[in-house]
Amino acid sequence: MDGKTIAKRESWASRIGFILAAAGSAIGLGNIWKFPYLAGQGGGAAFVFVYLLAVAFIGLTVMLAEFAIGRAAGLDAIGSFKKLAPRTFWWVTGAFGVLAAFMILSFYGVVGGWSIAYIFKMLFGSLANLSGEEYSNIFVNFITGTTEPILWQLVFMGLTIGIVVAGIQGGIEKWNKILMPAIFVIILLLIIRGITLEGAMAGIEFYLKPDFSKIDGSVILAALGQAFFSLSLGMGTMITYASYFSKEDNLVSSALTVVGLDTLAAFLAGFAIFPAVFATGLAPDAGPGLVFITLPGVFDRMPLGTLFGVAFFILLTFAALTSAISILECVVAFVKDQWGWTRRNAAFIIGGIITLVGMVCSLSMGVWSGFTVPFPAHGNLNFFDLMDVISSKVLLTGGALLICLFIGFYWKVENAISELSNDNKLSFSWLPVWGFVVKYIAPITILFVILNGFGIIG
Ligand code: TRP
Repeated sequence: MDGKTIAKRESWASRIGFILAAAGSAIGLGNIWKFPYLAGQGGGAAFVFVYLLAVAFIGLTVMLAEFAIGRAAGLDAIGSFKKLAPRTFWWVTGAFGVLAAFMILSFYGVVGGWSIAYIFKMLFGSLANLSGEEYSNIFVNFITGTTEPILWQLVFMGLTIGIVVAGIQGGIEKWNKILMPAIFVIILLLIIRGITLEGAMAGIEFYLKPDFSKIDGSVILAALGQAFFSLSLGMGTMITYASYFSKEDNLVSSALTVVGLDTLAAFLAGFAIFPAVFATGLAPDAGPGLVFITLPGVFDRMPLGTLFGVAFFILLTFAALTSAISILECVVAFVKDQWGWTRRNAAFIIGGIITLVGMVCSLSMGVWSGFTVPFPAHGNLNFFDLMDVISSKVLLTGGALLICLFIGFYWKVENAISELSNDNKLSFSWLPVWGFVVKYIAPITILFVILNGFGIIG
């Protein structure tokens, strides 16, 4: 790395642009697809309650850690560690992240494709007037098909690559500024529709009135894992995004805003879904099929359902897209900063390879489903699930653990605090508490999540 390349490095045009981009990264399939189904399976409000605690204590802590590292170094996820810890092996932390980004985007692009496909399926009536079982068959036949899901995946990845090619200000920032407000408007519309349906109250109660007896070890660990995924932590995405920050920006208030927006989006997504699910007499605990199998049935039964259904899948697609951009940017920034590639080549070539791996994920649901690999505590996994499990259960949590240990025991809490407070120009009296959490509490908690992922505890 020479000084010239650093001087020419892109940056965010405005603070609001950064906030929306970071929130765009955080708010994704994790919020609109995964959070509601986990809440639906984890007893509703009880899960929501534990999730909020996980976000406030561990999620925010790791977000601040990534912001401090990214802005202090001003480089990609791997380069940042090489710069702050020269001639050590700490760069492996970033390598975990870049590898995780690669794997996550491969299957994320497939699900993004399903989401676009469902906009059209809703629009053209192929999801109207069916029985519950038929909704399930349509979904399963679609995702196990050969060409159709791959074509939609190509559309989704094409959009993602196109935006990343256009760069930080002209692509990522610009599109997040358009898509993020649209996401919130659509969620609010869906909430209003849901709570004005007859019988919505049962859903509101399920979602807001916690039954604390439902909380056990597995709910706590699921909530923690979900907090990492939803806040885009552990992969260096936030290190990369924070590297485009200026030295005057307020990292702490930015982190609070991003965490707040992400949590609000997840919370509102559940609020848009559960009242409607209960009002139409369907079950909230369908798991991963909740938005693709249960919801089309919900829309079919409500007045103006097609309209709201189309809006829902547009919302899901926007959310997935703004996250996919950030995941690709994490890898692109690495090959750009470290290997000197142009943004354009990096986005096309890396994006292209990820798309190819994604096709294997897609095919592994159907024609290649016979090929499976055993994984501890998860049974035999097809390629799609293998990518998901290795990245979110091993690499993201491992990455987050190393990030905390790096700050606590190598770079030192004092340095991180002076970065977060802009060399003590801003004062936050609670930063020492953050230092304690990042050094001791967070690593221990994350270790539990990892051991649970391998089936060793829980
Ligand atoms: N947070 C996104 C979601 O909720 C997914 C995501 C984007 C992500 N970037 C990430 C997850 C980095 C982990 C790490 O869907």
